[in-house]
Amino acid sequence: MRTIHAIADLRQALGDARRQGHRIALVPTMGNLHAGHLALIESARARADLVVATIFVNPLQFGPNEDLDKYPRTLAEDQAGLEAAGCDLLFAPDTATLYPRGFESQTRISVRGVSEGLCGGSRPGHFDGVATIVAMLFNLVQPDVACFGEKDYQQLAVIRQLVADLHFPIEIVGVPIVRAEDGLALSSRNGYLSAEERAKAPGLYRTLCEVRDALQAGQPAQQAIDDGLSRLAERGFDPDYLEVRHPLNLRPLDEKNDTDAVILVAARLGPARLIDNLTVSLP
Ligand code: PAJ
Repeated sequence: MRTIHAIADLRQALGDARRQGHRIALVPTMGNLHAGHLALIESARARADLVVATIFVNPLQFGPNEDLDKYPRTLAEDQAGLEAAGCDLLFAPDTATLYPRGFESQTRISVRGVSEGLCGGSRPGHFDGVATIVAMLFNLVQPDVACFGEKDYQQLAVIRQLVADLHFPIEIVGVPIVRAEDGLALSSRNGYLSAEERAKAPGLYRTLCEVRDALQAGQPAQQAIDDGLSRLAERGFDPDYLEVRHPLNLRPLDEKNDTDAVILVAARLGPARLIDNLTVSLP
């Protein structure tokens, strides 16, 4: 696997591949890779001749009081994991390479609708930062296909709308959540948890499963949510939101007509803000 830091080198490597008629897949990440990220690489590997991963901790998508500075940076381990998973090319630029005029004065892309509420409500500006960097990476790499995790369910919806609205000729693939054996969705932010907090963390997924079971048993959504919020508090979480939405456009559930839904949760546990989600077929 080749690691590239400069845009000119990236363009040259990709130009060569494109001239040879290779299909290119992109997997954008912020590094500190785990099995969830590597599942994206495997999915990309199955869909393309050339798999490009990016590692960039994007300052534009972090709020002023968020974890930009302490976000784990583990390039050497990440390179080994990517290579083993079948990645061909890693683009790992520094901030000045992507934002030469500073990220504050950067052109921004703002996706409406799906980016409002949920994480967009509790992290103002976050999805503008995500949409901007993802559009930039799409423009730099010009992939045929790009893989994103369903773990960041709203992010995936934002990217699907970005691609539709700006007519990017890119197939977007959503990859199922990879979980630890106890149900906790793998996340770089799990590393912030103490041993005691880590033992409590699967309570997030357990709560989602209980809400799903309640909805499948025909319980009204608001009651299932209220019970879920109580369970989260009992389990030591400080919930940010727990909501049931339409699985594609994320609008509030229409309980009379919708046949499928997604339950989305964000909650603090000690120093970490954890997110998770679960889709459900309604009775
Ligand atoms: P990051 O949090 O590093 O995640 C990179 C990709 O890995 C995202 O598509 C995310 O949904 C996916 N992912 C993370 N944990 C996963 C899991 N347990 N199972 C499946 N997929 C998982 O998301 C970002 O970075 C950034 O916002 C980015 C898109 C790179 C833009 O900066």
